[in-house]
Amino acid sequence: MLRNTDMKYGSMSKFFHWLVFLLVLTLILVGFFWEDTGTIKGTVINTHKLIGLLTLTIVILRLLWTLNNPKPQIPNAKRLEKVVEHTVHGLIYLALFGMPLSGWLMVTAAGRPPHLFGQALPMPGIAQDKALAGLAADVHLVLAWTLIVLVSLHVLAALKHHFIDKDIVLKRMWPGKHT
Ligand code: HEM
Ligand code: HEM
Repeated sequence: MLRNTDMKYGSMSKFFHWLVFLLVLTLILVGFFWEDTGTIKGTVINTHKLIGLLTLTIVILRLLWTLNNPKPQIPNAKRLEKVVEHTVHGLIYLALFGMPLSGWLMVTAAGRPPHLFGQALPMPGIAQDKALAGLAADVHLVLAWTLIVLVSLHVLAALKHHFIDKDIVLKRMWPGKHT
């Protein structure tokens, strides 16, 4: 089943969810530790930039898919719970867009755009500007921590559903079939 239903996530949504999870986890680790990678650090940070742009593309496709599919409902959710769920998911999406856009803006304004096969990939319409690069770098760092906090809350909520409420919320996002 590729598409979502009112109760379950289809395989496409699950694929997008876990792919973005793996990409973001890698980007966060590489983002914080690239300077410790010695002689290959130039290649490592360029790879971070390229994977970041790939993630932006995937997040756009994922959002389009999500908006064109039913949203599985949380079983027995109270009004407040629904509001919190929608707010946290919405903020996570905002951070998923803000991270790659601020990163791309930062490196373009700093004159260090990503390179793919020798070809520079600057953000269109952005000239070199030290102050702008500094501002975008601040946004990239603050958003990184915002995303880490939001995802931690998100994981705690998933675990609460599974172990305390004992409902299907975690199981239905897990890969494979479930009852
Ligand atoms: C979802 C996408 C992305 C995530 C989750 C992510 C995450 C991170 C994190 C956690 C850091 C370390 C904290 C910081 O210094 O800001 C970082 C650093 C960095 N990121 Fe990203 N990033 C993403 C996309 C990008 C993109 C698209 C670019 C450029 C095209 C980029 C360029 C950089 C650079 C140059 C640094 C090093 C900054 C420094 O150490 O001064 N990032 N990233
Ligand atoms: C970088 C890490 C993560 C991000 C960015 C993320 C993002 C999201 C988003 C945006 C949704 C809303 C559904 C959609 O729009 O497709 C979602 C749903 C979900 N996520 Fe995550 N997630 C992450 C990690 C995790 C982890 C580690 C777990 C499990 C422990 C998890 C469990 C779930 C579950 C169970 C749902 C479904 C909630 C529902 O039924 O409405 N997520 N996630």
